[in-house]
Formats: sequence, structure tokens, C-alpha cells
Amino acid sequence: MKANSQIILLHEISKLGTSTAQWEPYAWYKEMRDNNPVYYDAEQDVWNVFLYDHAKRVLFDHELFSNKKERSLIPIPQRLESRSNVNLVDPPEHRKRRALLAQAFTPRSLKDWEPRIQEIVDGLIAEMEGAPSVDIVESLAIPLPIIVIADLLGVPYQDRRQFKTWSDILFLPYNNEAFADIEQQKGQAMKEFAEYLYPIVLQKRNHPEDDIISDLTKAELEGERLTDEEVVMSAIGLLGAGNETTTTLISNMFYCMLFDKPGIYQELRSDLSLVPKLTEEVLRFRFAATMDRKVAQDTNVFGPEMKAGQAIVAWIGSANRDESKYESADVFDIHRPGNQQHLTFGAGPHFCLGAPLARLEANMALTSFVKRFADIRQVEGFEIAPHLTVSITGQSLKSFPIELR
Ligand code: HEM
Repeated sequence: MKANSQIILLHEISKLGTSTAQWEPYAWYKEMRDNNPVYYDAEQDVWNVFLYDHAKRVLFDHELFSNKKERSLIPIPQRLESRSNVNLVDPPEHRKRRALLAQAFTPRSLKDWEPRIQEIVDGLIAEMEGAPSVDIVESLAIPLPIIVIADLLGVPYQDRRQFKTWSDILFLPYNNEAFADIEQQKGQAMKEFAEYLYPIVLQKRNHPEDDIISDLTKAELEGERLTDEEVVMSAIGLLGAGNETTTTLISNMFYCMLFDKPGIYQELRSDLSLVPKLTEEVLRFRFAATMDRKVAQDTNVFGPEMKAGQAIVAWIGSANRDESKYESADVFDIHRPGNQQHLTFGAGPHFCLGAPLARLEANMALTSFVKRFADIRQVEGFEIAPHLTVSITGQSLKSFPIELR
């Protein structure tokens, strides 16, 4: 794999060099919306759109903007490009693959999962009791999604630190300096992850249980069962898609409550029905997400002439702050109308399959937390820089100490 042939280096486009600048890219987003809303990066031959309507069009219009791409922000190791991969394909083919997974995420199956998720949440919150302060990332935001998805898939959650290590490596962003090293680490993580899952898949094919891996071993695509390798790759895809993103959401909820809207915690305590509104506003307000596609046909839908084969990045974090969509977009306001129309879960055919699960986990976690603790406070002298990590989904918190009351 060579940097420019397969990988789009995001930070080379934004020129936001430090992790703190990447954590607060919102002033740069605004500058781009105002001055360069359709921006061509000649160095990497990549188009970039920053407005809400443009980003939405990129996600919806698969005839112009395809997900079958050679270059990407998140280069997918080749093993993942199997027949069962739901993301790297366009409709109509996409529909069949998505249907394989969609069953697991119906409102009904989520309802069945609620008691188990509540049990996991209760266990994690019980462990925080009595402590004057906790690292909310380590104690809640990381373990909750991992335990939930491990349970859903039917893999032992005791191995969750190992999944976390593998998926962190698979989601490491590339950079020019450490390119070969990152490439090597990813290959190794993928190999180990697959070797770990393979016997579990074999076992479930012979003795199916009530979980997603067992369902996938029985599922058919175009009249043929998925191979063991394809089931392994689907499982890795789900573990990867659902963990880091949900961790970021839960961590950012606490950050927003303490730094973007101090005082909101007491409002939630007096009315727990506001929790889902907070979740949606966090998704809109503080998620520096980006998504990429390939321009499928020559087009000038956004003004300039784009050529088939070029890459295009939709800057979702900017679209969610577009003033023509949201009044006072830079204000964190859980009461704003339409905040759930953010693009953080994507839009169109690839709209996040796990969105209802992520929302459920975040809402249940925060509701139980707010019921249990009278207040939360910033830790004195808190500085963001040491708590940031590198990630493909935008900057996220790798740790976040908070005081409990
Ligand atoms: C806050 C948490 C999450 C965020 C922000 C998020 C975001 C996204 C986005 C933006 C897409 C669309 C990608 C594209 O257009 O190419 C997507 C797709 C997907 N997500 Fe999520 N996701 C989250 C949680 C989850 C969870 C918990 C799961 C499953 C356990 C999941 C599974 C998937 C799958 C399977 C797809 C592919 C759908 C398709 O291509 O048709 N996600 N997600």
C-alpha cells in the first residue's frame, strides 16, 4: 500500500497539525464553509465539501458518489473486502448484504437486549461508587460498547481488552512518517483478530446459539452460505464499527456537560426525559467525523468540474455546524429543533445500522449515571492535550478524569 495510491491523509488536507487543533477544528470548518465550501486539494487529488446540503448529497447519491473505492480515509485491509462487507458496495448489491445484518438491529431485537445492557451499565456504575473521581473513558465509555457488542456477537467479553487493542490498531490513522510501521501493525492485528475468531465461527456453525455470529453462519447470500472467512470478516467489521464510535459518543457526552454546557447536569437530574436530547446534541455538536466516496461520473453538481475517479471527503463535523441548517450552530443547545438530523450516523443507503444500539447504550448509561450521582465536576487544572488520542474518526478522549458527588 502506498500513501497516495490508497490512502487519503486527512490532516494533510486540514493542516491541523496538533491533536488539540484536531479536537477543536470548528473555527477551521467555519472558515472553509465561508470561504472554500467546495475545496480541491491538489496534492492528494481530493475534493472536500463542508456544507450540510453538499455532505448529505455525497452520502445519499450513490450514482454520483460511490462507496466502491480504491482510495479511502480508512483503508480497509484487503481481507475485509469480502462478499459480506456491507460498506464497500453500492445499491442494488448493497441491499442484499445489508439485509444479512439488518435483522440483528431491528427495534424488536434491541428491546430484547435492553435488560442485558441495563445489567452491564449497572455493573459499571456500581464499580464507580464511593470513588471521589473516575476516568469516565476507562470506567464506562470503553467497556460498555465492547461488552455489549461482544455479547451480541457471542464472543467472550472477558477478552475485551484484546479486541480493544486490535480495533484501536485497525483504526489508527496513517501518516507519512510512520507509514510502513502502521501498515505492518495493522496487518498483524488483522491476522491475530481473524485467528482468534475463526474457531469461534467454526464452533457456532456446528452448534448455533442465539447470537449474530451464529445467525451469519446460517445466512445466505445469492443462494450460498457465507464462508467461515466471510463470517469472521463481518464480525471484525461489526466489532470495529461499533466500539470506538460509541466510546467517543459516551466520552463526549461527559465533556460537553462539563465544558460546553456547564449546569446542564442539574437540568437532566430534574428531568431525565431530556437525556436523549442531550445525546443527539452531542452527536451534532462534538463529533469531528468525515466520510469519503469516489466520484463515479464527471459532475459539476457542486459548481466546479469533478472528474470520475477522484476522491471526495464530506466533512460531517462541519456540516453539523452549518448555520444555514442550524441557527446559532456553534451553541450547544439540547432544546434546538431538528438536532437529530445531524449527519454523524451518515445518511442514505449506508446510514449506520448500529445507530439505534449506540443511542440506546448512550441513553441508558447516562440515565443510570445521572440517577446515581448528584453532580459531576471538572478536575482542577484539567488540560485537554494529554487526554487526546489519535483516531480515524476524528480526535477523541483516551482518558477523562471527572469528580463525582
Ligand atoms: C456513536 C456511534 C456510531 C457512529 C457515530 C457511527 C457512524 C456510522 C456512519 C457515519 C456510518 C456510515 C458510513 C458510510 O456512509 O460509509 C456507519 C455505518 C455503519 N455502522 Fe455505525 N456508527 C456508530 C455505532 C455503530 C454500532 C454500535 C454498530 C454495530 C454494532 C455500527 C455498525 C455500522 C455498520 C454495520 C455500518 C455499515 C452500514 C452500511 O454500509 O450499510 N455502528 N456508522
